[in-house]
Amino acid sequence: MTDIARSTRVVRTRAELREALGGLPRPIGFVPTMGWLHVGHRSLMQRARAEDATTVVSIFVNPRQFGAPSDLEQYPRAEARDVEICAEEGVALVFAPAVEEVYPPGFDTTVSVGAVARPLEGAARPGHFEGVATVVAVLFNLVGAERAYFGRKDYQQLLVIRQMARDLAIATEVVGLPTVRAPDGLAVSSRNVHLSPAERVAAPVVHRALAGAVAAWQRGERSADALRRMMSDALAGEPLANPEYVSVADARTLRELEVVEAPALLSTAVRFGSTRLIDNEPLE
Ligand code: PAF
Repeated sequence: MTDIARSTRVVRTRAELREALGGLPRPIGFVPTMGWLHVGHRSLMQRARAEDATTVVSIFVNPRQFGAPSDLEQYPRAEARDVEICAEEGVALVFAPAVEEVYPPGFDTTVSVGAVARPLEGAARPGHFEGVATVVAVLFNLVGAERAYFGRKDYQQLLVIRQMARDLAIATEVVGLPTVRAPDGLAVSSRNVHLSPAERVAAPVVHRALAGAVAAWQRGERSADALRRMMSDALAGEPLANPEYVSVADARTLRELEVVEAPALLSTAVRFGSTRLIDNEPLE
């Protein structure tokens, strides 16, 4: 490890975290992650580094936000590499707890966000957002950061976390940052590692479908159904793509629209074999 890497401290318990946070300059910028860090995470850390005196990253694969146990088992992990990435990005502190440290014996609370958590990913993945909101509430309380950074690729997650923090009077400001994409348009995600070579070649169709609908909207198309159809047709042209939903929704509530008035959100979930990808584009 480099010198810079040695300056990143890794703590695993709530007590160690509390003690380490006490000595760090404020404001604190917090980047919660499930590890397997990539350029998308780096962009969040870089923003935290630019805005805050101290950057803290958590690495915790949260069992409560997975449906099938196999999804949790298959989730990629590489902690040593992740810590090196944090070091390269000037992260002062990494919190990498065991499951019992986040959910100690007797833990019996679930944070359930309302309307904004129900459609789209909430409908497709029952219990997912309860798991996300619960772990993020715990992490926000443990870290007590001034700001926390999330990617807009998981746009609904961002809205759910904002709602949760507002309703539970958590002072951490929730900041959403643009999706990072590969040169061919594919949104960077930890899940991309599971794509076969043929699926990886096919996967940019997701962004092409969204971009086609954005272009139609820019040319004046205001029928949500026409935009949905356009996205579905583009996805249907790729045999390896199995769309789960295409959505044209109000970007604040995620309610499906008939007539598209900004701010709106185009979004989709598409399976390639056993890998499920999500992506979105705002209409603003
Ligand atoms: O987006 C993620 O990586 C996770 O959902 C999060 C926010 C770290 C909660 O486990």
